[in-house]
Amino acid sequence: MGLPFIRRSPLSIFYIPPPRFLILLFFCFLALFLVFEVDDFVSRTKTIVGHNLEPTPWHVFPFKPSDQESKYSKASKIIQCSYLTTCGLNDTTPEEKQSHNAHDHDPPAQCPDFFRHIRRDLEPWAQTNITMAHVAEAQKLAAFRVVIVGGKLYVDFYYACVQSRAMFTVWGFLQLLKRYPGRVPDVDLMFDCMDKPTVNRTEHSYMPLPLFRYCTTPQHFDIPFPDWSYWGWSEINIEPWDQEFRNIKQGSRRRRWENKWPIAYWKGNPDVASPLRMELLNCNDPNNWRAQILRQDWGEAARKGFKESKLSQQCDHRYKIYAEGYAWSVSLKYILSCGSVPLIISQQYEDFLTRGLVPNINFLPIPPLDLCQSIKSAVDWGNQHPSQAKAIGRAAQDFMASLSMERVYDYMYHLVTEYSKLQTFQPVQPSTALEVCTEYVLCFADQKQQRWLHKSAAVPSSTPPCSLPN
Ligand SMILES: *[C@@H]1O[C@H](CO)[C@@H](O)[C@H](O)[C@H]1NC(C)=O
Ligand SMILES: *[C@@H]1O[C@H](CO)[C@@H](O)[C@H](O)[C@H]1NC(C)=O
Ligand SMILES: *[C@@H]1O[C@H](CO)[C@@H](O)[C@H](O)[C@H]1NC(C)=O
Repeated sequence: MGLPFIRRSPLSIFYIPPPRFLILLFFCFLALFLVFEVDDFVSRTKTIVGHNLEPTPWHVFPFKPSDQESKYSKASKIIQCSYLTTCGLNDTTPEEKQSHNAHDHDPPAQCPDFFRHIRRDLEPWAQTNITMAHVAEAQKLAAFRVVIVGGKLYVDFYYACVQSRAMFTVWGFLQLLKRYPGRVPDVDLMFDCMDKPTVNRTEHSYMPLPLFRYCTTPQHFDIPFPDWSYWGWSEINIEPWDQEFRNIKQGSRRRRWENKWPIAYWKGNPDVASPLRMELLNCNDPNNWRAQILRQDWGEAARKGFKESKLSQQCDHRYKIYAEGYAWSVSLKYILSCGSVPLIISQQYEDFLTRGLVPNINFLPIPPLDLCQSIKSAVDWGNQHPSQAKAIGRAAQDFMASLSMERVYDYMYHLVTEYSKLQTFQPVQPSTALEVCTEYVLCFADQKQQRWLHKSAAVPSSTPPCSLPN
């Protein structure tokens, strides 16, 4: 019985190999081929957390998403999240859509007046419309491309974004689709997630480029869009907007107006290449300049569990200073929420809500020249006119109360809708973009981010969007 084996083995190389061996060889090659293919595939797949992406060249920042991950865990994460997640498991049911439509006959609420800036922001394309060439050209300045077709979201990633900006911004688009199922039109738009506007009106006067970002200036074509922190900023423990606003408003009641410190307060990070914030540090003198200026060290705050950085515990002063950072700052909305008088040092950058601010009604403007003296003058005026000062603080808080997440979604809805009306082409899924859905984002999120994503999830609206002022 054993004989044939013994005889064959020394001679086997002269033999034609048996079919079993060929099959084995074939599978070995196949496995090797697959390993190389998968490796190649994994190293080409760009993700919402920045895998296989470089930081934007126009704003370089330290970024190495794969440092903490082994090659194997990175590959398995990409395969699992990008290719094996099933989208649409928790999609809106038809019943929900129906109940939503039942309210369509109610006259919709009027949007806040400053929403009229949506049309002004899109005016550069009123004559030319937005062509595929505009979008293709804007891609050179974009970190990612957002395409909505038939209520589905596709995202093409070009460059990595700081921290989890891309994740929470894309999440915002997903929640918009969830809030208004069947209503969001097909669009194809370019988004940059870094701070400073880049589409200079002079340099691009020949061909204005439509590029979405978090802020703009009168000298730029960039289109302002609500920033990621409306869905929360998990790295520094800032809650999604509605919750954070409730916390701040409650915190602002810890002291009655009369008992709040009659000086101005600022706490923030001056180390963001902002000469203004550096200058502000010189005004830290409650007696001479009526101002208390504190450094916020986010590394230190994180180590202490964010106990001393709570925004809701920073409403104990009658005046709150807003100073721009590297560009606009997400802190504006939190400062306006305190019920204190916002002292806004002249702004160069506008985010979408800045347009709702009215000097001497819901804030006091502070000229940047002779900064400390300007702050002192505003505080002295307020202390001499306490009821007027109190009313300005209240108006600022009321303005932020009116800008609930519902209204933020309405702003996004109208901006995207007005933009889509200008498109001269029918958006289609880009061949390089994957569908991005709830399951995809949650799969890439770490545990803390997942908590924030769940907290900021939207539900279908029972009412239509507010109506845009003419
Ligand atoms: C822009 O679009 C509008 C509406 O579709 C159309 O009437 C107009 O002719 C277009 N303008 C140009 C320059 O293509
Ligand atoms: C826009 O570009 C022009 C021409 O290059 C330049 O003079 C101007 O300073 C730029 N504006 C801004 C805000 O960067
Ligand atoms: C889907 O819905 C179920 C029940 O509502 C929930 O437990 C689950 O976390 C949801 N999954 C996702 C991916 O949102």
